[in-house]
Amino acid sequence: MLSYRHGYHAGNHADVLKHAVALQIIQYLKRKEKAFAVFDTHAGAGLYDFESSFAQKNKEYESGITKLWEIEKPHSALLADYLSLVKQFNPNGKLRYYPGSPLIAQQTIRHQDSIKLFELHSSEAPVLSGSSQQIKNRSRTQVIEADGLKAILPFLPPPSRRALTLIDPSYEQREEYAAVSHCLSKAIKRFSGGVYVVWYPCINKEESSNFSSQLSRQTEHAWLNVELHVSTQNDKGMQGSGLFVVNPPWTLAGALNEALPELVKLLSTDESAKFVLNSHAV
Ligand SMILES: C[S@@+](CC[C@H](N)C(=O)[O-])C[C@H]1O[C@@H](n2cnc3c(N)ncnc32)[C@H](O)[C@@H]1O
Repeated sequence: MLSYRHGYHAGNHADVLKHAVALQIIQYLKRKEKAFAVFDTHAGAGLYDFESSFAQKNKEYESGITKLWEIEKPHSALLADYLSLVKQFNPNGKLRYYPGSPLIAQQTIRHQDSIKLFELHSSEAPVLSGSSQQIKNRSRTQVIEADGLKAILPFLPPPSRRALTLIDPSYEQREEYAAVSHCLSKAIKRFSGGVYVVWYPCINKEESSNFSSQLSRQTEHAWLNVELHVSTQNDKGMQGSGLFVVNPPWTLAGALNEALPELVKLLSTDESAKFVLNSHAV
């Protein structure tokens, strides 16, 4: 039974980190003319309205995208690119609509590229289909109502042998950590050249705090691990979030090195906020 709805969390600090990095990777893939594919194993609803009852419940966006929206222009290129994309969904200058990972990809790809979106929730999948029909590149975007951790595998490798795969579960069940790790190793076996981004929450639980080292032990490829902790003093909730990136673009570490101090300054909730950035080349 799936109870998680991303509408409650859209635009929070975790979305800011995840979406700014995903956008950066897509922009890197666009440097070459050759087509690429984007796979989103846990796509969500696509577009979020901050005036909806979901978003209004905890107003999590106020701890994330709102903080960036309030400054004129971020210093770092990674954040400036991301903010400018969110602005495209709010052309009248008021922050109301927030693009999730599917729409960030859809707004950014070119005519030769393609997107496959997996969403298992029977209420979210039709909403996702509706939102992805409203913007450009709709004909290159396919919504598949299925378990993304399994359904992605037959699509790998894509014909162009270039792809970004985002794996972004809610980790409501403890078993999801193992399922993600299993999917990642199977996916890499089928298609070792792809860029893979795994999102995870930084919470005070063993399975979460060990997750990135577990993933790093299982991959023989280059990887980058980034975490943004908006606070390290909150024992109960989500202190921050992390991304484990396999085969990261060579530009990503530099872009993050520039952006992370600014992100910590903007999104911290107390003086214990920090970032972590590690990488491993082969
Ligand atoms: C964290 S949200 C995704 C947010 C989205 N990636 C974004 O950044 O905008 C996780 C989504 O995965 C869906 N989901 C949960 N388990 C799934 C599975 N096994 N396969 C596909 N979707 C799943 C949930 O219904 C939820 O909409």
